[in-house]
Amino acid sequence: MTRRDYLQIVAAASAAAAATPARAAAGDADREARLKWWHDARFGMFIHWGLYSQLGRHEWAMEVEGIPVEEYQKLAASFHPKPNAARDWARLAKQAGQKYMVMTTKHHEGFCNFDSKLTDYCAPKQGPGRDLVKEYVEAARGEGLRVGFYYSLMDWHHPDGARCATDEQARRRFVDYIHGQIRELLTNYGKIDVLWYDVNWPLNAVGWESAKMNDMVYQLQPQILVNNRNGLPGDFTTPEQTIRASTDVAWESCMTMNGSWGYHKADTDWKTPRTIVRNLVTCARDTGNYLLNIGPKPDGSIPEESVQTLTSVGRWMARNGERIYKSQKCQVTRSEFANFTREGNTLFMHVHFWPGETVALGGLTNQVKSARLAATGKEVKFEQEKFRVRFTGLPEKAPDDPVTTIAIECDGEPHQDQNAIRTQRTRLKA
Ligand code: GLC
Repeated sequence: MTRRDYLQIVAAASAAAAATPARAAAGDADREARLKWWHDARFGMFIHWGLYSQLGRHEWAMEVEGIPVEEYQKLAASFHPKPNAARDWARLAKQAGQKYMVMTTKHHEGFCNFDSKLTDYCAPKQGPGRDLVKEYVEAARGEGLRVGFYYSLMDWHHPDGARCATDEQARRRFVDYIHGQIRELLTNYGKIDVLWYDVNWPLNAVGWESAKMNDMVYQLQPQILVNNRNGLPGDFTTPEQTIRASTDVAWESCMTMNGSWGYHKADTDWKTPRTIVRNLVTCARDTGNYLLNIGPKPDGSIPEESVQTLTSVGRWMARNGERIYKSQKCQVTRSEFANFTREGNTLFMHVHFWPGETVALGGLTNQVKSARLAATGKEVKFEQEKFRVRFTGLPEKAPDDPVTTIAIECDGEPHQDQNAIRTQRTRLKA
């Protein structure tokens, strides 16, 4: 087949793909209803686990180090995770205040953690000898958590995974394979709450037949949420390793705890519990979600640093989590030692660098009615001037760890005007 023939076929497929997917036609109300639990959840656990976990040098090792496929695939036989490792993940997630989980069912390496009739390169037919996705689904449900599947469209192992870009027969086989696996995932494990596509190299939405893909997904799982990484907008966007709020669509910021998604033995650059709480507050302030990753070891156990950090985040969430789950869009953002969330007329000032006896907030345009420490309910005294509120009589040492939250009840929806301080503050006489 010539390149021209191929392009014509793709153009024909394009017309089919452009046809409005049934779901989009159902409109925003339907989407908002499906998103309700997800917005309320705010905090989820991402899990990257696969053959790369055995190498312990990042999940991209196969490609970045140029490992030959024949050499890499031997890792499938030596993958022997302990039984039900996912129960520990789910328990930790719940304890951390996370309400949903998203696990890699297949990452770019092409190895499937689930049972697939379409390949032998899958957990039940290789070293593990059992379906790791099934164990995960049962573990998550056992803790009352919502269940998400990550699935990479890019595949470094499948023979057609690269040539599909230039060879129509290869594209046909590969797209059938990918759609077929998604069908398996959404048919064999009961109700699935999130489908998290990743990397759509080397095709575009037309080549992947992404509209048809999403139609199938919604048909199999009418309540599911899909992300935007199959080349279509989906139900939410996915800023990666950064927090970038969208105003018009639902968004979820995904992040690692060190610098790697998959287990990376030597990467000890861990985020602190404080950084994680701060990130979670920032997401909640702008009504986004935070999907925080763990990279289990090859046996499925969670790196000790991640356990400790999520445990302290969980202790903080037990005291302050309501402020995160119930947060509404918050206009107040400016402080050099705190961040904010809002619930109705109450502003929550989450202080991460505790200044001591007095905590000041500039530019609040509302009258403060009362203030208290959110974790204990203890009343906090305050003095308000035109451009400044000072919360006083506080302990020298931060009363909560790693972040202390002050609940500030205002006479209206909290609003900050920093510009007024600069332009209107009375100047000294010249
Ligand atoms: C990127 C990486 C991948 C990781 C994902 C998570 O696309 O390729 O390794 O799984 O981000 O967001």
